[in-house]
Amino acid sequence: MIIPVLLAGGVGSRLWPMSRELYPKQCINLVDAEKSLIQQTAERSQAAGMTESPIVVCNDEHRFLIAQQMAESGVQADIILEPEGRNTAPAIALAAFQAISRDENAVLVVLPADHVIQDHDRFAKAVATAVKQAESGRIVTFGIQPGYPETGYGYIQTASDEGEALPIQSFKEKPDLATAEKYVKDGGYYWNSGMFVFRAQTYLDELKALQPAMYEAVRAAMAGVSTDLDFIRVDTAAFAESPSDSIDYAIMEKTGKAVMVPYAGDWNDIGAWAALYDLNDKDENGNVHQGDVLVHDAKDNFIRSESRLVAAVGVDNLAIVETKDAVVVVPRERAQDVKFIVNQLKALG
Ligand code: GDD
Ligand code: MG
Repeated sequence: MIIPVLLAGGVGSRLWPMSRELYPKQCINLVDAEKSLIQQTAERSQAAGMTESPIVVCNDEHRFLIAQQMAESGVQADIILEPEGRNTAPAIALAAFQAISRDENAVLVVLPADHVIQDHDRFAKAVATAVKQAESGRIVTFGIQPGYPETGYGYIQTASDEGEALPIQSFKEKPDLATAEKYVKDGGYYWNSGMFVFRAQTYLDELKALQPAMYEAVRAAMAGVSTDLDFIRVDTAAFAESPSDSIDYAIMEKTGKAVMVPYAGDWNDIGAWAALYDLNDKDENGNVHQGDVLVHDAKDNFIRSESRLVAAVGVDNLAIVETKDAVVVVPRERAQDVKFIVNQLKALG
């Protein structure tokens, strides 16, 4: 049984002011006017032949929003609610225990809910290759040819470049800029796509060996599970005992079981406004317009208006995003730093 796991617990602070704590980016129609990112992800997994009900792991606060969006997409999902986010390693462990209760040999295909992949056939082929590897006990990730020294991604060095699944020599999560530049210059490194495939049991065994406190906390949280409407609620006190860490640091940097399937299809992580600039059609001056926007003598800007006319004159390389109650203006290449404004807002309460 192959079960898609949709990770939907992030708040998307770099996509403020569209992404809000109560209405996070994965629930917004950011790329497709009709569908949110999580709906696109759920539908993509089905289009790629994963017909089992997905397991969605999300924050308790977003349960109705996510349930409603799954229903709109006609997807029947198990929705596991985290009382508080502990990052991706425990979130995936919750899904692994749930999957094993359906089938002890279940293979998980872990999909972040904030990725865009348009070529479903190519994606399906890569998943099929990964599933074969996973069935023989491997932890599989997909590697993307790096385009520039992004510091927000993990980097994979492979031991060879022959074959459909390459043994991983080293995995480095979010290197500093100098290291990322060296990796891109040296070659032989791939970006970690953030999608993973493994048997649920392989993941839990590796978690138990490498992160015993996390394993134990999640096991106890799932032992105390209760269902409420269609939601799966974990034991709050037990889950709070789990250390908070991502799969990348907690498992991928440490495991000896990892292999990488190269992925040459289209792939975009909708992390910050710059990613939406890259994905969309440009006018003759390289501007992306969304909504009510006018420009004069301006180039290479991303301009999105939700409620008012936005006009830009004589400015280049900016992201300008207008919503009813907030406007952000940031150089496109610093779009990641919008998260600092969100931190300031949090500090203000
Ligand atoms: N349920 C749940 N709980 N989901 C979470 C949590 C959590 O506590 N934290 C994050 N997520 C979800 C996010 O919503 C997103 O869909 C996914 O897990 C990945 O988390 P990000 O926070 O977006 O990770 P990242 O982008 O910094 O890094 C990961 O993805 C990169 C590629 O996009 C890593 O895997 C990198 O190595 C990788 O290059
Ligand atoms: Mg991400």
